[in-house]
Amino acid sequence: MQSNWWHSAVIYQVYPRSFADADGDGVGDLPGITAHLDDLVDLGVDAVWVSPFFTSPQRDAGYDVADYCDVDPVFGTLDDADALIHAAHERGIRLIVDLVPNHSSSDHPWFQEALRAAPGSAARARYVFRDGRGEHGEFPPNNWQSVFGGPMWTRTAEADGTPGQWYLHIFDSSQPDFDWTNPEVRDLFLGVLRFWLDRGVDGFRVDVAHGLMKEPGLPDVAEPDAVAFGAGPATLEPAVSAPVQAPYWGQDTVHEIYREWRALLESYPGERILIAEAWVDPLPRLADWVRPDEMHQAFNFAYLETPWAARPLREIIDASLATFGSVGAPSTWVLSNHDVVRHATRLALTFDNPQGHGIGLATPNLPEPASALQRARAATALMLALPGSAYLYQGEELGLPEAIELPDHARQDPTWFRSDNQRYGRDGCRVPLPWTAHGATYGFSASKHSWLPQPERWRDLARDLQRCSDDSTLSLYRHLLAVRKDLQLGSGTVRWLDSPRPDVLVFQNGLAVIIANTGDLPITLPEGDILACSAPVEDATLPEHATAWLRPSNTVSLPLP
Ligand code: GLC
Repeated sequence: MQSNWWHSAVIYQVYPRSFADADGDGVGDLPGITAHLDDLVDLGVDAVWVSPFFTSPQRDAGYDVADYCDVDPVFGTLDDADALIHAAHERGIRLIVDLVPNHSSSDHPWFQEALRAAPGSAARARYVFRDGRGEHGEFPPNNWQSVFGGPMWTRTAEADGTPGQWYLHIFDSSQPDFDWTNPEVRDLFLGVLRFWLDRGVDGFRVDVAHGLMKEPGLPDVAEPDAVAFGAGPATLEPAVSAPVQAPYWGQDTVHEIYREWRALLESYPGERILIAEAWVDPLPRLADWVRPDEMHQAFNFAYLETPWAARPLREIIDASLATFGSVGAPSTWVLSNHDVVRHATRLALTFDNPQGHGIGLATPNLPEPASALQRARAATALMLALPGSAYLYQGEELGLPEAIELPDHARQDPTWFRSDNQRYGRDGCRVPLPWTAHGATYGFSASKHSWLPQPERWRDLARDLQRCSDDSTLSLYRHLLAVRKDLQLGSGTVRWLDSPRPDVLVFQNGLAVIIANTGDLPITLPEGDILACSAPVEDATLPEHATAWLRPSNTVSLPLP
């Protein structure tokens, strides 16, 4: 396999609960993924990242791990994991797993031991236990607010039943944070990395990689409600309006951990990679995460948060290439994942919707689905023309919109509960995939049940229908990925060309000229062969909100007419 594969790879995120359910319990599983690997080969991706499938009470859909070295029965067995890794490799697809080092589940044996142990004990020192404030310790140790809403601290009861110390959890109370200054914690995770590397995985997506270290003393924050977890808009430069950087995000001391991990990965054969989920702001700070001896890639959330508009897109593309390029790392690009409103809806929203808040039936002014999808297809065609590594989230290749019609009683994201139903949370982007236009769960499950209900309109978006239509979003993705590979756009460069209008982006990457029209009016294309386009081109006219890849008949005819 080619070296530095990750510099230009297209990596497909599988959210296992919602991908395919082989055993018929209504929740997707590892055998379901293995059974559909050929669909991913057909799509044309290079690697698959699978969200957590480890032993877990599933209070945060598996991002609450009780045993890092075993598979939760809901997803299968360790043998199923081995079979998946093997089947992926047989097909030339790399397999990346999700590592959750910031916190464990409260069911983890270490946390259970800590609850039973006395304050000040070695067992408690693996997590962040503190005495409360106030005369009787009745107030949390500081004013930090959980990402999911409510205080970041929960009070425990001591062995004799009296109210005791508090423990820290950046997320849900079922996700206690580890104390990463404790060498025992470091050793635990070195062991976990080895366990999966020995089984043959090609890398790790590192969850909340910016959260592991906290500022010593755990000081109060000035404005607890203003602390952002990617609650954009992302900034390129530090600005007065930049979200507050909290004493638990992006501490400098975290980098040493990743250097140790990188060295471990390099002691294994093959090019195994580390990918940071680090919501750090402004973007240039992210370069620190991908220095040559640290992680290989970091998700570009600043790109994800950029609106569908030419000027900010050009700025973020330039800033990303410069930021990552400054340390010799590839830029990454991403538009959707399991934490954000799907881009087939999000890019047409006309109001602010901070990450994690989600949308639902009571949200006013929702966009019209067809025009929202048109933007999404155009945005994807722009993204896949950029050099670097691109991430796709399962279902976006079907043009799935956010499932806004989920009934309240079906919602499962802890955000919904911890915010007293004020934030819809992320369930709307996690609805199980439609594989077939027929069947109770559109081919997702062997049973009649899916863990989140699928909207009826999923039927028209089913993969089997889309496979038979040249105009479908699935056909567009397959075509874009094939041309991207053919022309090696992933390892190319961006050369901006003159644009005829401020709402149109024009650049050259290798042999292709990319024209992205973010405006409301069509535009005439220069002469040349159309290699790909996100919307039908007639009489050399590219519609509004559309992107075309073109091989110009002669570069002299540029700029555009
Ligand atoms: C990451 C995951 C998200 C999860 C959180 C806590 O942001 O992507 O789904 O809820 O970490 O683990």
